[in-house]
Amino acid sequence: MTSVLILNGPNLNLLGTRQPEVYGSTTLADVEQMCRAAAKVHGMDIEFAQSNHEGTLVDQIHAAKTSHGGIILNAGAYTHTSIALMDAIASVELPVIEVHLSNIHARETFRHKSFIAPVALGQICGFGAKGYVLALDALAEHLAIT
Ligand code: DQA
Repeated sequence: MTSVLILNGPNLNLLGTRQPEVYGSTTLADVEQMCRAAAKVHGMDIEFAQSNHEGTLVDQIHAAKTSHGGIILNAGAYTHTSIALMDAIASVELPVIEVHLSNIHARETFRHKSFIAPVALGQICGFGAKGYVLALDALAEHLAIT
C-alpha cells in the first residue's frame, strides 16, 4: 500500500487555539482524522507528524525517502525561511505538495515567499484544513493509485 508522510512544522500543534480568526478552530488532531478518512478512500497509508524543530523536519523528510511515496508538507513559518527544508526536499526526490491553511499570498509580504514552492509539485493554500484533503487527492492522482 502506498504511504504518504503528512508533515507539519512549527506552531501547528497549537491549531484550534492559535489565532482562530486566521487558522480556524480545527485542531491538528481533527486534521489528522480528516486525512486518515481521505487516505482510506484512496487506499493509502499515512504517517502524520508535527515538529517545532527545523532539523527534525529535515530528518523526517530524509527518512521518508525509504518509507513513503510522497509528502504533504505544511512547513509553517519555515516555509518562508528554510533553505535547509528546500534542499532536503530536492535531495529525496519525492513528490511534495505544499499546504497552508491560510492564503499566504493575501497576507504579509514576508509570507509571499516560499522556499518550498520551487521544489514542490504544487501548492494548496487558503482552504483551511480542507487543503490537506485536496493535497491527498492530488497526490493520489499523481501517484496513480486511485
Ligand atoms: C501557515 C502559514 C505560515 O505563514 C505560518 O507561519 C504558519 C501557518 C498556514 O498553514 O497557513 O505557521 O503555514
